[in-house]
Amino acid sequence: MKKQNILVIGGAGYIGSHLTRVLSRENFNPVIFDNLSTGHREFVPRQVKLIKGDLCDYRQTEKVFSTHKIDAVVHLSAFSLVGESTSDPLKYYANNVLSFINLLRVMRAHKVKKIIFSSTGAVYGQPRRVPIPEETPRDPINPYGQSKSMMEKIMEDTALAYGDIRYIIFRYFNVAGAIEDGSIGERHDPETHLIPNVLKSLTGRAGTLNIFGNDFDTKDGTCIRDYIHVMDLSYAHVLGLRALDKNVANQVFNLGTQHGASVMEIVKVAEKVTGRKIPYKIAPRRPGDPAKLIADASKAAKILKWVPARNLEEIIRSAWAWETSPS
Ligand code: UFG
Repeated sequence: MKKQNILVIGGAGYIGSHLTRVLSRENFNPVIFDNLSTGHREFVPRQVKLIKGDLCDYRQTEKVFSTHKIDAVVHLSAFSLVGESTSDPLKYYANNVLSFINLLRVMRAHKVKKIIFSSTGAVYGQPRRVPIPEETPRDPINPYGQSKSMMEKIMEDTALAYGDIRYIIFRYFNVAGAIEDGSIGERHDPETHLIPNVLKSLTGRAGTLNIFGNDFDTKDGTCIRDYIHVMDLSYAHVLGLRALDKNVANQVFNLGTQHGASVMEIVKVAEKVTGRKIPYKIAPRRPGDPAKLIADASKAAKILKWVPARNLEEIIRSAWAWETSPS
């Protein structure tokens, strides 16, 4: 059977570069569209086509679809820092929402019908109970989550009104870890995510770790998140693409492990994995941080047969291998 061409928008980024490798292994043909603003050219495998361009630019986006036969789109590119979104919301709304409208218009014009759209656990805001099932109303508490919530609504309305697009929305929880061969991993500048910052406090690439708040309503006062290995998360997209070819469409799935870990627990597991003491201090809360986010991922298990295989220790071990690799 002919390989499907999958346009991976944001494919040179952290998640996109892992996803690209998983897609190639699973007999898809990934094509990457990335403006390289936060992505890395060197994360793109040599055999994979990289088109440098900007989704905010309608003409550049249109050219990708007129010069390549695209079977399905995975849309990963977005600004995604909770803290930054609270201080510069217009940056988030302009980039994330406007580019998405371009994409859907161009997809329709070129009769590309299938899309997997990356949303986030941040659309739930400050949920009353965890684990959070998908039917929980969206109620984001920061502009990043709000921009993704708007995009979800645009996706739903588009599919409903025109009837020519089939979508899967994945709500990612806290993606972490790296491919096991240590060739690629999380590299942001500046780095704001917890696990890389915990590990960087040991390698000298960052100073003492700041723990943002220890007065949340959680067992040890630090925030609880659901950390999911980037390779497990990537594999969900393979299952999603296959499901879109069968009878699954216009569905939302949480992608998480259903286990919450507090910031302090991450520090402890990192100490176990590395055999070293993490230098940390308690800092003020970061604006926009909810106390607890844990996915109910039973829908993805039931419908997509997706079950994450790697635990927290494996996540941190793979992230540590990347942090200490020579690349
Ligand atoms: N944290 C620290 N110190 C740090 C970095 C983070 O204490 O140096 C804390 C944060 O305050 C938060 C937790 O660690 O409580 C996790 O923070 P991250 O920045 O790693 O991740 P977020 O939960 O803010 O956001 C991530 C993604 C979002 C996604 C969200 C969904 O970046 O895109 O998970 O759960 F929406």
